[in-house]
Amino acid sequence: MDNNKFVEVKNLRKVYDNGHEAIKNVSFSVKKGDLVCLLGPSGCGKTTILNMLAGLLNPTSGEILFDGKSVVNVEPKDRHIGYVFQNYALYPHMTVLQNVMFPLIVGKNKKSKAEAEKVAQKYMELTQITELADQKPGNLSGGQQQRVAIARALVQEPKILLMDEPLSNLDARLRLKIREEIRALVKSVGITTLFVTHDQEEALSIGDKIILFNDGIIQQDDLGQNFYLEPNNYFVANFVGNPVIDNFKVTKTENELKANDFTIQLADLKQARFKRELPDGEYTLSVRPENVVLAPDGFLHATVDDIELIGRERVLKFTYDNVQARSLIDLEVPIKHGDQVNLTMKLDRVFLFTPDGERVY
Ligand SMILES: Nc1ncnc2c1ncn2[C@@H]1O[C@H](COP(=O)(O)OP(=O)(O)OP(=O)(O)O)[C@@H](O)[C@H]1O
Ligand SMILES: [Mg+2]
Repeated sequence: MDNNKFVEVKNLRKVYDNGHEAIKNVSFSVKKGDLVCLLGPSGCGKTTILNMLAGLLNPTSGEILFDGKSVVNVEPKDRHIGYVFQNYALYPHMTVLQNVMFPLIVGKNKKSKAEAEKVAQKYMELTQITELADQKPGNLSGGQQQRVAIARALVQEPKILLMDEPLSNLDARLRLKIREEIRALVKSVGITTLFVTHDQEEALSIGDKIILFNDGIIQQDDLGQNFYLEPNNYFVANFVGNPVIDNFKVTKTENELKANDFTIQLADLKQARFKRELPDGEYTLSVRPENVVLAPDGFLHATVDDIELIGRERVLKFTYDNVQARSLIDLEVPIKHGDQVNLTMKLDRVFLFTPDGERVY
């Protein structure tokens, strides 16, 4: 038994009947008790993976192991999984209490009504829906229905909890509140959880680690901060963090990186950040707006096109080297539309990508 591989997926593939390859050779593992976020854009295969873990869908090939044992041929009901579906899937004709205790009073290991009610009460307390016990789902808010769905998924005390975009129907404030509650709850119960979302901020805030997918392939499987600081490739860099990174076409020669309007000496870059020896040629230099800073002797001389307020900061927009570029500046800095400014990039925070998206610096 290896607690670092409580859930293990090896070379998993799913080709749907229509020939669409939704999952292409995916391997990952989840540590016991961790909350791992599966992140990625719509259609990248997140639900397909959860359904294969739950046994609702058969893999085309590959292995799924729980606690070291293959479950590919194990019936869904014997996999000890709790599943919170995206649409909650509550039973409309039952009360909240009846919904939560339902899994306990069906099947071959069913409990007596009194016992089932006792366990249901415990999870209703944990999810703070005790007062709603006699309500029907139709009378509840999205957030309340969501708690009922979580209580119902936990009531059998499963070993693994799967949650498919459980917060997508809630308003922004409720999402923030409930995501913290979900993390606290799964940590207090100690259940290993896979949480699907397409919201990078949600994933960064609650995931012990994040697995980012695109087009059925894992792009990065890592701690949250590494997606920001050390993205594997261009897709990751754009998906996580400030989504717009400024892209300059540069030509690498022996000693320098040359764009149309500026030159960076290779010696000024942090040698340790180069991932490999770079052949001379064309690359894309990208930098996040927060790493473009005003500096009196900065090498980017630009005119401010526009300034946009976002929370505590302002986005200063300028055009440089035919690139629509951005910098984040404090509210206090006295700058206005049309001003001439000098900016510089934090060279230990820029990224260099090959034309096919591999990050090399
Ligand atoms: N039954 C099916 N038959 C054929 N293709 C399917 C089927 N179900 C899903 N797909 C396709 O497989 C891909 C992955 O679908 P999936 O539902 O896993 O994506 P997702 O990441 O959960 O997306 P979303 O964020 O929109 O829920 C999509 O391109 C989808 O169109
Ligand atoms: Mg989905």
